[in-house]
Amino acid sequence: MGNYRIADIELSESGNNKIEWAWESMPVLKSIRDSQISLQPFKDLTIAACLHLEAKTACLLEVLAQLGATVVATGSNPLSTQDDVCAGLVSSGVNVFSHRGMSTSEYFANLRTALDFHPDIVIDDGADMIALLHKEMPHLIRSVLGGSEETTTGVNRLKAMEADDALKIPVIAVNDAKSKYLFDNRYGTGQSVLDGVMRTTNHLIAGKSVVVAGYGWCGRGVALRASAFGARVIVVEVDPHRAFEAVMDGYEVMSMDMAASRGDIFLTLTGNTDVLRKEHFKVMKDGALLGNAGHFDVEINKQDLEDIAVSKRSLKPNIETYKLENGRNLHLLAEGRLVNLAAGDGHPVEIMDLSFALQLESAIRLTRESLSPGVYNVPSDIDRKIMEVKLGSMNIKLEKLTPAQELYLKSWTE
Ligand code: NAI
Repeated sequence: MGNYRIADIELSESGNNKIEWAWESMPVLKSIRDSQISLQPFKDLTIAACLHLEAKTACLLEVLAQLGATVVATGSNPLSTQDDVCAGLVSSGVNVFSHRGMSTSEYFANLRTALDFHPDIVIDDGADMIALLHKEMPHLIRSVLGGSEETTTGVNRLKAMEADDALKIPVIAVNDAKSKYLFDNRYGTGQSVLDGVMRTTNHLIAGKSVVVAGYGWCGRGVALRASAFGARVIVVEVDPHRAFEAVMDGYEVMSMDMAASRGDIFLTLTGNTDVLRKEHFKVMKDGALLGNAGHFDVEINKQDLEDIAVSKRSLKPNIETYKLENGRNLHLLAEGRLVNLAAGDGHPVEIMDLSFALQLESAIRLTRESLSPGVYNVPSDIDRKIMEVKLGSMNIKLEKLTPAQELYLKSWTE
């Protein structure tokens, strides 16, 4: 048993069943685990992870422990922790400090407890743990070999720390690997965000106007899947190339001022703040759904909603209905937190198999190489290997370049 501060240790059976179900579809993580088990790369090391604590993440944490690490885990979002999975993890020896619905102060207290384990490696999602390490516990930094970061917002924060000369450890930007953002951000977010909205509201997507704010990797996926369900997709972007790409992909593109009165469902995926705010809420249709899938709950301005609402109530879990002075109701999903994780199970397991295989390989690399502080790309050999193992698990064979083709591609004379 690990140490713990979780909701209910009695939930371990349900958690372990979920974890076992996830393991069935994680061939890449399994294959790396099997190749490393005799080597025990994390022997005598402590790994602290701040991740969405659901079943797929549990598989990664179990592997880290099986490969020799003392593992301490905490949730990376107050609403994405699954309490039964935490209990399951504790029963397999992982130290867990998290529960669904924790307050902001409990959230940071859990991060502090995890850092009190004096980690050698830090695996983060959103960079809260790495930021806290630097702000409050800098005395621990000297013994940290390095870290890795799962998501776009976290990588952006770490790059800002690096630019300020504030980043004192090496961090591998797992998010920026091709085998991560091309699949996790696009297809993972695409499917799971729609799943979160549908299972929470039981509403139809077909025939609705879905406003997608941000046409980055996540936004592209959500637009693609919403459109596949029969929605009319409107994209809101600030970047001209991405806006034009959305036009070429067949969507309407406009400013939020224009989209606000048109949308039935609003989904924010920008990594930015105040994307939906007072002036937009005031002109929205009665019954509009507001969901966020960007990392932090800052994209939908909740304070503005509170300020202009005359009343608020909840008829269903994960839905808060704000009645405005104009008599219209706006429904906020999952408190404006990541709708796919707070109101769903997150990305499909086959996708997280790739992302967590990258996390595992990155952690192993940190034990082998001594890197100076900074943000690093996942080494290209790891990125390629993950894809090759995945394709192998699907019995898909790659075409090979002939020697003549290799020569041709390198030549400038022919
Ligand atoms: P990205 O950088 O590829 O795309 C973000 C897009 O938003 C950019 O095209 C940017 O121009 C646009 N944007 C910025 N401010 C805007 C505004 N005010 N209005 C409209 N568009 C605006 O980032 P990516 O990878 O798509 O990630 C987006 C967010 O989703 C990040 O916070 C990331 O951490 C998070 N994320 C969430 C996941 C989930 O499971 N829900 C999974 C992966 C990432």
